[in-house]
Amino acid sequence: MEQEIAYLNGKFLPISEARVPVLDRGFIFGDGVYEVIPCYGGHLLRLDEHLQRLQQSLDGIRLANPLSMEEWKGILRHLVEHNPAEDQSLYLQITRGVAGRDHGFPEETSPTVFAMSKPLQSPSPSLLRQGARAITLPDIRWDCCHIKAISLLPNVLLRQQALEAGADEAILLRDGEATEGAASNLFIVKDGLLLTPPKDNRLLPGITRDLVVELARNTGIPHQERAISETDLRTADEIWLTSSTKEILPVTRLDGKPVGKGRPGEVWKQMYQQYQQYKQRLREGSEETAGAPA
Ligand code: PDD
Repeated sequence: MEQEIAYLNGKFLPISEARVPVLDRGFIFGDGVYEVIPCYGGHLLRLDEHLQRLQQSLDGIRLANPLSMEEWKGILRHLVEHNPAEDQSLYLQITRGVAGRDHGFPEETSPTVFAMSKPLQSPSPSLLRQGARAITLPDIRWDCCHIKAISLLPNVLLRQQALEAGADEAILLRDGEATEGAASNLFIVKDGLLLTPPKDNRLLPGITRDLVVELARNTGIPHQERAISETDLRTADEIWLTSSTKEILPVTRLDGKPVGKGRPGEVWKQMYQQYQQYKQRLREGSEETAGAPA
């Protein structure tokens, strides 16, 4: 099988040959940040927004961006062109680099920069027909969930707990509010109104989330960014999860009980169609911002 091509510290190489020293602070402390960017037919979705969020994450952990926006775009373009899949999920990660183990920031260490691509599998038609299952769990994470940090142990444990309960995702509760999923943002529909929590330190400012809000605005779907209480969640007509890899996934069972009528809702159908049309325009090259790969 043809090897996937990755990028590590200035070089492109087959992924199996990419090596990072064990004293890398990403390995030792989870001291780094990352991005996941979907790419359809060679066109990266909302690339500038992803790179802006990367910058905010780097600022959040006080690490200088080792590359310019143009350099990032060049690396991503190379990976897209040299990996075979029609649709790809681009992953990039920056850690604070290799240094003797000591919690404080090392002096004069250069960051480790890594990027790879893997085939992007959109949710299957059968999952979209049936809808996903979710369970609620208390949010055991930290107070900086707006930073896309590689230290994902709580997210890993939450997702695994959901999987072991026969569900696809955990929806997280904090201070009586539903904030987001273990690796996704949250929307509900209640009495015809689409709701998603406002951006704050308790959730990741999802790029898919912003796109869904934008599509709701453009298509005249009534929507509001406001807190979702646990009661709102449990009495919602529709629940959706959004992410770069899940797109917009309808949740039809919450904690074992049906959501609304127990099947993907009408507002979801409308939004899903909007999203697919957006992807189609992206494939045709008519949805890109200046400077994005051709
Ligand atoms: N995760 N919230 C969390 C905690 C996430 O990890 C993600 C995405 C999202 C959705 O953000 P976006 O729409 O920008 O993908 C929300 C990625 C896909 C991951 O960790 O693989």
